[in-house]
Amino acid sequence: MSTLELFKNRPPNAEEEDDAAQAGVNKASKGGIIYGDYLQLDKVLGAQVLQSELKANKIHDEHLFIVTHQAYELWFKQILYELDSVRDIFISGHVRDERNMLKVNTRIHRIVMILRLLVDQFAVLETMTALDFFDFRDYLSPASGFQSLQFRLLENRIGVPDNLRVPYNRRHYRDNFKGHDSELLQATEQEPSLLRLVEEWLERTPGLEVEGFNFWERLEINIFEGLTSEKEKLELGQRLDVGFVFVFGAEYGRRRGEQELMEELVKQKELFTSLFDEKRHDHLLSKGERRLSYKALQGALMIYFYREEPRFQVPFQLLTSLMDIDTLMTKWRYNHVCMVHRMIGSKAGTGGSSGYHYLRSTVSDRYKVFVDLFNLATFLVPRHWVPKLNPNVHTFVYTAECCDSSYCSSEDSD
Ligand code: HEM
Repeated sequence: MSTLELFKNRPPNAEEEDDAAQAGVNKASKGGIIYGDYLQLDKVLGAQVLQSELKANKIHDEHLFIVTHQAYELWFKQILYELDSVRDIFISGHVRDERNMLKVNTRIHRIVMILRLLVDQFAVLETMTALDFFDFRDYLSPASGFQSLQFRLLENRIGVPDNLRVPYNRRHYRDNFKGHDSELLQATEQEPSLLRLVEEWLERTPGLEVEGFNFWERLEINIFEGLTSEKEKLELGQRLDVGFVFVFGAEYGRRRGEQELMEELVKQKELFTSLFDEKRHDHLLSKGERRLSYKALQGALMIYFYREEPRFQVPFQLLTSLMDIDTLMTKWRYNHVCMVHRMIGSKAGTGGSSGYHYLRSTVSDRYKVFVDLFNLATFLVPRHWVPKLNPNVHTFVYTAECCDSSYCSSEDSD
């Protein structure tokens, strides 16, 4: 079809649409900052220097390798930016005004979204074959992601404890850093991590006060009364509480014999006895198997049980997002190690570790900062065992604290 014919067949209002599409003024011609300058693209886009090209042996895929790493580092920067702003809200005490929890949640959720992207981003680099990588690997040695300052800052800021890290060649991770970078890392090991700040916040969960609702004591009484009643029913050959059978797993009650149910009851009793034993908690803390203080654990469980109450909805979402961060960091480690295996097999890394074997050992619960939140599911009980709230007496679940005079300050109006 000729251009003329094309125009002949145009709809009747096409000219008007054209006018609307072409309306506007080229503001850049009037001065002010333009796109490339605003984003400093000369620096960003000028930062892809191929070592292979410098050595007069340009390898095509090195460009992708560099861009991928730079994209990761830029996103790490954004995550640290969001994380620091959230930590500031906690450190400054602004978190005591519960209206600020929305900001905390939004930013933590943003971190979750970025991590999701980062987990998937390895797929692009995996379009490079092991042989293509082999062609330029020597040129970048001894550089390694191991030396990524931002990745270590991120781990420290979230709360990966120094004593639970996997050493490499029996050396400390900080040995890779010198001068200012090493000092910065040391400082982040001392400063309050997200874990410690969340812990402090959980300890103040309304309803934990011994003189008030006293959630923990009531829960303990209810659980042990419930277990005793189930034991009595079993001894009398009566049907068990539907909710309780559910604790053992669906269909359990019907399939298993009485003796097995009794054994399971004993196990459940042991489990809950350990939950209410502070000394045992401290022992698990010392082994790194629990990370939150005893009081904070109580707060977290309370938020879980009463998540539908107005005041606990946003805190519940925050706890969910914290688990998302841990899950996605684990997936990041897993996807990275799978890619490394495919690229270099079980050869040593350019950074000096054993490579695949070292990385594989980091995909573990040691690096799960909020591991206690995952384990809470072990302690869920039938709904009617959860201490009842009386809306006329227990008004705290409706009335949030809005005490922060700086809430509307211009300093943090973003
Ligand atoms: C072909 C692609 C890649 C290979 C073969 C590779 C290989 C390795 C190896 C062997 C290590 C262990 C340390 C060492 O001895 O070097 C490591 C660590 C690391 N890499 Fe990669 N890597 C690749 C891509 C990436 C990308 C795209 C990133 C994104 C930033 C990255 C970030 C890291 C980080 C943060 C560590 C330290 C992990 C830890 O100690 O827990 N790597 N990499």
